[in-house]
Amino acid sequence: MFVVVGVTGGIAAYKTVQLVRLLVKDGHDVHVIPTDDALRFVGLPTWEAISRNPVTTSVHDDVARVRHVALGQQADLVVVAPATANTIAKMAAGLADDLLGTTLLATQAPVVIAPAMHTEMWQHPATQANVDTLMSRGVHMIGPEAGELTGGDSGPGRMTEPERIHETVARELARGSGEAAGQQWLVTAGGTREPIDPVRFIGNRSSGRQGVEVALAAARRGAEVTLIAANVSPEVLAQVAGDPRIRVVEIMSTDDLERAASAHAPSVDVVVMAAAVADYRMPDVAHEKITKESAEGTLRLELVETTDILRGLVASRVEGQTIVGFAAETPGEGETLVGRAIAKRRRKGADLLAANEVGWRKGFEQDENHLVVIDAADAVVAEVQGTKRDTAEALVATICARR
Ligand code: CTP
Repeated sequence: MFVVVGVTGGIAAYKTVQLVRLLVKDGHDVHVIPTDDALRFVGLPTWEAISRNPVTTSVHDDVARVRHVALGQQADLVVVAPATANTIAKMAAGLADDLLGTTLLATQAPVVIAPAMHTEMWQHPATQANVDTLMSRGVHMIGPEAGELTGGDSGPGRMTEPERIHETVARELARGSGEAAGQQWLVTAGGTREPIDPVRFIGNRSSGRQGVEVALAAARRGAEVTLIAANVSPEVLAQVAGDPRIRVVEIMSTDDLERAASAHAPSVDVVVMAAAVADYRMPDVAHEKITKESAEGTLRLELVETTDILRGLVASRVEGQTIVGFAAETPGEGETLVGRAIAKRRRKGADLLAANEVGWRKGFEQDENHLVVIDAADAVVAEVQGTKRDTAEALVATICARR
């Protein structure tokens, strides 16, 4: 993709060399626009060598190709790092007295800024008001971080490390152009728990890893994802923490999941039910802990069926919605995973069903997975063996291709 990197006059400009390097390594066509001040910190030959593109600072260069607006028009994203107080003020006012200024006015692409300045300048009401203006126009800001500054003083004002800016840029690029851009996805992950009494529950071994990977794969393709997480551990959820594209709703029981899913489903394009949902629950939960004394040697629990959420979603599907089920199967003698998956997809009425084989040492709590995807014509439309990320990628690619 075509990425413009604006560099303005701060000492942190030397760190932006690394940002440019990372973007080039990703295969992007990177065009650096330094301000004249920025060139006092890092020289033009460095930017040219590292970006592998010619670099100019003046609106009067390459006039025949209308360079002063062409870069902005072509850009898939513009990132300004470091963004000084002066540049932020110019951006807020819409000034265009240099090539970076004209580019920023000419672009319709997402803009990311990484401010860097002394704490006093950052905290000045003028800078804060300018930042508010930029954010209200949809500019994405990363940082500044608190830490040691050039003068030996410390406080908020340090530019965020280039690796983190790179992550934000990669995310914004994926959002703008992916196959699922503009789509809303609902993904469920983990396993529901049915309470027995205040201290016990009936649960299952689902870790939520596969569902979380599906949410991430959809987000990488530009979708906005609501992830309903049923008892997913903090370590697994950490993968999506702070991800602006993924909203997490944490729930416990099948009842909770049904409520959350039916609240979100009407407004989404795709539903992926990756959660392992309990099929049975207690008709009444004991209010006090069941003691051995009260059980008298044998404890009998009578369970009632839970609602089939997936079938409910299929029955109330909104037009154009794609609904995908999951199945964790233990095929018996003479049965195959595909055969079981076909039967289950028909029973559920989902558009696609992703099935994997599970066992004591298979599927759960493992990183490796084997997934087959069945469609409404009983055809195997994808089959993958790999990490849960690989299987999620293949499933999400299949869903996108069919929409
Ligand atoms: N599912 C659901 N609500 C339930 C049970 C399951 O929405 N009460 C969904 C799961 O999220 C999954 C799919 O249905 O996407 C298949 O789940 P599974 O437990 O394999 O289906 P069951 O109908 O319970 O089949 P089985 O009798 O094989 O357990």
